[in-house]
Amino acid sequence: MIIVANWKAKVADLKTAKALVATARKINDSRGNKVIVAPPFPFLAALALPKTKLTFAGQDISATDGGAQTGEVTAPMLSASGARYVIIGHSERRALGDTDQVVAEKVKKALAGGLLPIVCIGERTRDADAQYLHFIRTQLQSVYEAVPKKDVEKIMLAYEPIWAIGKSAEHAITPDDLTEMVNYIRKVLAQLTTKKIADATDILYGGAVEDTNAHALTHETGVAGALVGHASSNPKSFLSLAKALS
Ligand code: PGA
Repeated sequence: MIIVANWKAKVADLKTAKALVATARKINDSRGNKVIVAPPFPFLAALALPKTKLTFAGQDISATDGGAQTGEVTAPMLSASGARYVIIGHSERRALGDTDQVVAEKVKKALAGGLLPIVCIGERTRDADAQYLHFIRTQLQSVYEAVPKKDVEKIMLAYEPIWAIGKSAEHAITPDDLTEMVNYIRKVLAQLTTKKIADATDILYGGAVEDTNAHALTHETGVAGALVGHASSNPKSFLSLAKALS
């Protein structure tokens, strides 16, 4: 299982961050889990040391090439700080202005800078007419049509319905609905790329994953793992989630 630990801005000091990394290492070593830790930018370089033996991700990336861009963190900076992956298009970034075009630009910058993008997609609400499926298709289209064909297989997807994010387990999607969404995403991917790439693309689920629902959501739903927010930013809940996963 792939477990992306998205700490968001919930971890405020290096001591807590190091304790969480120690937990992530335990989880990574056991039961075939691959943990990708996404700390806040200022902690990345201090945590992502070769001896840590963990994989790291940025939580976002600049759509620019750097230069006179106050506050921007570019792909080469993230890479130099030890990140291998980068989360792009998280709904919390989209809410702050990242349009589909900006997300596509960021994915291109990540790939050009040698980072592997974890692209988040997900609808705000569900409607009886299934308009949300068109919404997901558009999100996928804008990324896959912008990225050079040779690079599309490097993209990992995270399906994160916005209505579930930050909630407790009972508000997550049901395993049946998740299976349906994963099948739909693969169908769209096959149209945008090839069936081979669609089948090989890792799709994660994110949104209210906790220890009580982690197993049901990640087994027999077609996902490769989970993108975990609040449950990954506390050692106790992270460990118990990892136990539940296997
Ligand atoms: P959550 O967040 O696990 O706290 O719902 C997931 C996410 O936003 O990536």
